[in-house]
Amino acid sequence: MDRKQLIVANWKMHKTPAEAAEDAAAIATALGRLPDHSSVALAPPFPALVPVRERLAQTQLLLAAQNVHSEAQGAFTGEVSAPMLKACGCDLIIVGHSERRAMANESDAMVQAKMKAAFQHEMGVILCIGESDSQRNEGQTFKVLDKQVREAVKGLSVTGVNSLVLAYEPIWAIGTGKTASVDQVQEVHAFLRETLADCFQTGLEKDLAKQTEILYGGSVKPSNIKDLMSMKDVDGALVGGASLNPETFVSLIRNGF
Ligand code: G3H
Repeated sequence: MDRKQLIVANWKMHKTPAEAAEDAAAIATALGRLPDHSSVALAPPFPALVPVRERLAQTQLLLAAQNVHSEAQGAFTGEVSAPMLKACGCDLIIVGHSERRAMANESDAMVQAKMKAAFQHEMGVILCIGESDSQRNEGQTFKVLDKQVREAVKGLSVTGVNSLVLAYEPIWAIGTGKTASVDQVQEVHAFLRETLADCFQTGLEKDLAKQTEILYGGSVKPSNIKDLMSMKDVDGALVGGASLNPETFVSLIRNGF
């Protein structure tokens, strides 16, 4: 398999810088050398990025930010730009998480602008997409996901496609303990792979798009990661609650890879 495996801890608004640094060091030490073609990333809150980066030096673990502004600088109180995140040592940025789409009214256009900012500053993007409970019940899942993917990658270059990771996170499964079934996840991931390839014109772009890693997120735990990872189009996971305790997260990774 050419695609890599990736498990990402999204610590959301949890942990002080000191707590995050300590937990990052504990995770890196417990994991040791990762299996080939497998990566782990930690996404702490902004104030913890630099201390976590310091603790991850000499390890294989990647550092991710949870958000970015589309502009490089300016009068945007409370925002953080891509060059700032690059300077903090970020490898990846989570963009379009459903919590930001809901709470900060992030539109598909804003998500696209954020992705472009990340790519311009040579960081990868974890693009989050997902349908709500009511959208699924109304049979809108594929329509919603199709729009989210197409709007986000519109006008993206080959370099962009190469640095993109998709994260399918059904909103009804986030923090609810209600995981999508492995068949539901596989069906959506296969659809996303085809949709992404269909967004591009050239054979090279389509081939790259087909190699895009697609993560699943939504109540992933040590007990369900193995079944999820056994699905053909599932390349990893974006983990919230079960990533907060280092021991739980390490056992989730061990079960997943
Ligand atoms: O970014 C992570 C997702 O929102 C999943 O969160 O694992 O707590 O359901 P969860």
